[in-house]
Amino acid sequence: MLSLSDVHVNYGHVSALKGISLKVEAGQIVSLLGANGAGKSTTLKMISRMVKSKKGSYEMEGKSMIKELPSSIVKQGIIHCPENRRVFPLFSVEENLIIGAYNNRSKLVKEEMENVFRYFPLLKDRLKQKAGTLSGGEQQMLAIGRALMGKPKVLLLDEPSLGLAPKIVKEIFSIIKDINKDGTSILIVEQNAYKAIGISDYSYVLENGSIALQGTPEELKNNDEVRRLYLGG
Ligand SMILES: Nc1ncnc2c1ncn2[C@@H]1O[C@H](COP(=O)(O)OP(=O)(O)O)[C@@H](O)[C@H]1O
Ligand SMILES: [Mg+2]
Repeated sequence: MLSLSDVHVNYGHVSALKGISLKVEAGQIVSLLGANGAGKSTTLKMISRMVKSKKGSYEMEGKSMIKELPSSIVKQGIIHCPENRRVFPLFSVEENLIIGAYNNRSKLVKEEMENVFRYFPLLKDRLKQKAGTLSGGEQQMLAIGRALMGKPKVLLLDEPSLGLAPKIVKEIFSIIKDINKDGTSILIVEQNAYKAIGISDYSYVLENGSIALQGTPEELKNNDEVRRLYLGG
């Protein structure tokens, strides 16, 4: 469905991605793991065309995306939920959700919002509340909800668990699984490798801008290096 092949990204003289190849098939959850600075967020930004690639190919459903603008990537159904749950703090929950639906006609916006409430019922009770007054977990739910408003075929999630209590992380991961079961493919970036591998069909481990390892959950859980470095022994 979505594939990258030999993708390179530089920030000035810094080489952030040194030839990344990966695939997300329809219906899959694929995770991108690795330490801070490995290039995970850059990979997602490259996919949504917020950063330019120097070399390599990028296809969605057989069509090259390499020359597309971010707005056209969204229209192809590739929706990016960025790191640090960037909600608009002074806007209400409702306004934040409507912003996510800029692709839609107003009649459909209500329908899409109801769909978001199926996953995140608490957002319905907070519609008029300013997003900045929500808890961290609630803001993360709003950020994912806003991404869902764009009707993703592929949802790009950047560290949804960052800084959240274990109970909330568990809840959010369970909702991510539900979203996937309902037909959305997911590419999730996580430092919490154990959690991410648990919900993934396939995972890639990034190290210094290159893919160091990849495999199914079984393959990775049985890999000594993955266990030592990422799964706590
Ligand atoms: N805007 C930027 N300008 C310069 N260097 C950057 C920028 N964003 C990221 N980098 C560098 O690129 C590398 C990969 O960063 P990033 O993709 O954010 O990693 P991760 O998400 O895995 O923590 C790091 O070395 C980081 O310092
Ligand atoms: Mg990052």
